Amino acid sequence: MGPLKPFSLFIYLIITVFVDYTNAAIFDIINNCSFTVWAAAVPGGGRQLDRGQTWTLDVGNGTTGVYRIWARTGCSFDGAGRGKCQTGDCTGLLQCQGYGTPPNTLAEFSLNQFNNMDLFDLSLIDGFNVPMGLSPNSETCSGTRGVRCTGDINGECPNELRVPGGCNHPCTVFGTNQYCCYSGPCIPTGYLRLFSDKCPDAYSYPRDGGTSTLTCPGGTNYRVVFCPSSI
Ligand SMILES: *[C@@H]1O[C@H](CO)[C@@H](O)[C@H](O)[C@H]1NC(C)=O
Ligand SMILES: *[C@@H]1O[C@H](CO)[C@@H](O)[C@H](O)[C@H]1NC(C)=O
Repeated sequence: MGPLKPFSLFIYLIITVFVDYTNAAIFDIINNCSFTVWAAAVPGGGRQLDRGQTWTLDVGNGTTGVYRIWARTGCSFDGAGRGKCQTGDCTGLLQCQGYGTPPNTLAEFSLNQFNNMDLFDLSLIDGFNVPMGLSPNSETCSGTRGVRCTGDINGECPNELRVPGGCNHPCTVFGTNQYCCYSGPCIPTGYLRLFSDKCPDAYSYPRDGGTSTLTCPGGTNYRVVFCPSSI
């Protein structure tokens, strides 16, 4: 039986690789806002989404890595896909290659990590522009609820943080340890309270202990909704 063992291992590896490569993760990115947004995904690019439109982004089979998805607002682009956005702009490109200029609400995914699990969360570390919701969209993770951030952060944004179309994170504006939590314990005080109170399920500061990162098996599909229902 000895000689068979390496062969069995070989077969096992073939099957494992095959299974990994058939786990295609699909993001359905839905604009439920009453206004047009320009969705951005890095990697992935970008697309104009009118009210009610969906961008189906197939991130490929067995993809490993970090994905960021956000909404840009107030954009105008020329025929070559160059222009500018009021919030979330990525160096003026319709097809984003780099991250957006704050403020922008963020969905973050780490796909196919340890034990072949996906990790995901909503983050306000780069501030807030548009309400967002994030949930698994396949049977493989039907037991996991989603997260949403629908609090009226723009409406209650203090003047010091307010910019057209959004609300900056206090770390972006002040850069102090109190808000950026470079070292020591991180406590949501002052301006951070707005973010943690309005969207308790989102990361509002580094090492935000009140928030759990959600997990699903690798290959799960996801739904990202801009302006989800607030219930
Ligand atoms: C990805 O998986 C699908 C089936 O889920 C398959 O049809 C396709 O050929 C695969 N692509 C690659 C590059 O392996
Ligand atoms: C879209 O928004 C409406 C309210 O404006 C809400 O009733 C609906 O559930 C939302 N859809 C999603 C997918 O969140």
